[in-house]
Amino acid sequence: MGNCWFSWVLVVLLVLLGVSVKGYPVEDLVVKLPGQPKVEFRQYAGYVDVDVKAGRSLFYYFVEAESQPDKKPLALWLNGGPGCSSIGGGAFTELGPFYPKGDGRSLRKNSMSWSRASNLLFVESPAGVGWSYSNTSSDYTCGDASTAKDMLVFMLKWYEKFPDFKSRELFLTGESYAGHYIPQLAIALLDYNAHSTGFKFNIKGVAIGNPLLRLDRDVPATYEFFWSHGMISDEVGLTIMNKCDFDDYVFASPHNQTDTCNNAINEANNIVGAYINNYDVILDICYPSIVEQELRLRKVVTSISVGIDVCMSIERRFYFNLPEVQNALHANRTKLPYSWSMCSGVLNYSDTDGNINILPLLKRIIQNRIPVWVFSGDQDSVVPLLGSRTLVRELAHDLKFKVTVPYGAWFHKGQVGGWATEYGNLLTFATVRGAAHMVPYAQPSRALHLFSSFVRGRRLPNTTRISIDG
Ligand SMILES: *[C@@H]1O[C@H](CO)[C@@H](O)[C@H](O)[C@H]1NC(C)=O
Ligand SMILES: *[C@@H]1O[C@H](CO)[C@@H](O)[C@H](O)[C@H]1NC(C)=O
Ligand SMILES: *[C@@H]1O[C@H](CO)[C@@H](O)[C@H](O)[C@H]1NC(C)=O
Ligand SMILES: *[C@@H]1O[C@H](CO)[C@@H](O)[C@H](O)[C@H]1NC(C)=O
Ligand SMILES: *[C@@H]1O[C@H](CO)[C@@H](O)[C@H](O)[C@H]1NC(C)=O
Repeated sequence: MGNCWFSWVLVVLLVLLGVSVKGYPVEDLVVKLPGQPKVEFRQYAGYVDVDVKAGRSLFYYFVEAESQPDKKPLALWLNGGPGCSSIGGGAFTELGPFYPKGDGRSLRKNSMSWSRASNLLFVESPAGVGWSYSNTSSDYTCGDASTAKDMLVFMLKWYEKFPDFKSRELFLTGESYAGHYIPQLAIALLDYNAHSTGFKFNIKGVAIGNPLLRLDRDVPATYEFFWSHGMISDEVGLTIMNKCDFDDYVFASPHNQTDTCNNAINEANNIVGAYINNYDVILDICYPSIVEQELRLRKVVTSISVGIDVCMSIERRFYFNLPEVQNALHANRTKLPYSWSMCSGVLNYSDTDGNINILPLLKRIIQNRIPVWVFSGDQDSVVPLLGSRTLVRELAHDLKFKVTVPYGAWFHKGQVGGWATEYGNLLTFATVRGAAHMVPYAQPSRALHLFSSFVRGRRLPNTTRISIDG
């Protein structure tokens, strides 16, 4: 109650003082999240109705750049799945300003937040993910096309809430299945621009991390990764590489293959097993059964592996299910009949859209002179660099692009941040050394360097000032 009164007074004060909240929706201002450290930047969260008749509404979280937000661009971030939360993922465990603490009830500052380089917008997409919902349950049967269409409407209506950003430079970013969402959205925005005589989206770049681009190429890369990292035997690895034909691979019936191939794949999956984090094979795992109990008992559960809290996903679920957190975020306004989870349990997402080949879309984006970066955490086995690197090279070949930066190391703080190459001055492939599928999660500093370079239109540094000869 006291808190509520305080928030209200603060809002009124901000409005009266006109503290540059001009052009920002006061009702969406997040005054303070439970257990949040004090910060100088503003956060907003709320709903944008994308279809009033069906009652379909997408939830967003927007965070201002830490300094000079008026001079910084806008970056949209989407997580993948399909069906996973951009707010639980990107915003609160990867690149946003806060991470959950080990008590599941408070937050700590992420000093490597991408909001140091840009204003950040996270959206729960499609409806049915996180706090986005529809009053029409058949809307939960959806796919790539409807997702992109809703996001186009979302962007137009979000700009009505935040008119200051309409002409701002816009960067489209995401990871994993957002390898579908982001290029498809970029094409939808470009098509809108082509038909619009007035407003046009000011798209300045597209960056996708460990993206699903071509299922029948990205899937075999997983087994090649297992094999090259000693996670499966030579026999099993060679059988898969020689006996499996992944050409007809689909999510629904993964491998309509020979028995030899199917047996080898089953064996590989069994050997790798449940005790490895497939999204980062060098990290230790968290034991959810232990952690969830301890959180209820108000214990601190942080479990650290190579400097990373590997139990963050459990702390996040606990935090987002606190009613006071949902209230502070203006979330869950229709009192959804299920609890918050990182990936949706209500969505009936197309199991064939995963097969869509995204490379022709990337080609069209690049033909519009928009830079595209494909980056890859090199410890990920789910969408490993082995597939992405080849697909990017083939795309460059298709575009008849020359190599404009030869494949080589890029540097950050005197160490190799990863390896990178560039084609035709527009298409970049970069790995992030020691990073997970969720690149900023395990390598926050290298990831921020990569993102800052991307939004500033700079190449990654190919040298370091520190000499190895001393
Ligand atoms: C959905 O249903 C709720 C409850 O009936 C209603 O308040 C709301 O206006 C409807 N539409 C949207 C977009 O939420
Ligand atoms: C599996 O492959 C066989 C032989 O190539 C083909 O006849 C059959 O239709 C395929 N089944 C599916 C579900 O794709
Ligand atoms: C929404 O609120 C209801 C009622 O408080 C709660 O039971 C449910 O878990 C919440 N759902 C989500 C997705 O936050
Ligand atoms: C899920 O989608 C498929 C086809 O897209 C449809 O046939 C099926 O009825 C849907 N299931 C539910 C529970 O809505
Ligand atoms: C680094 O990049 C610059 C500018 O693109 C180039 O001139 C130089 O040769 C590169 N150095 C190395 C070591 O690749």
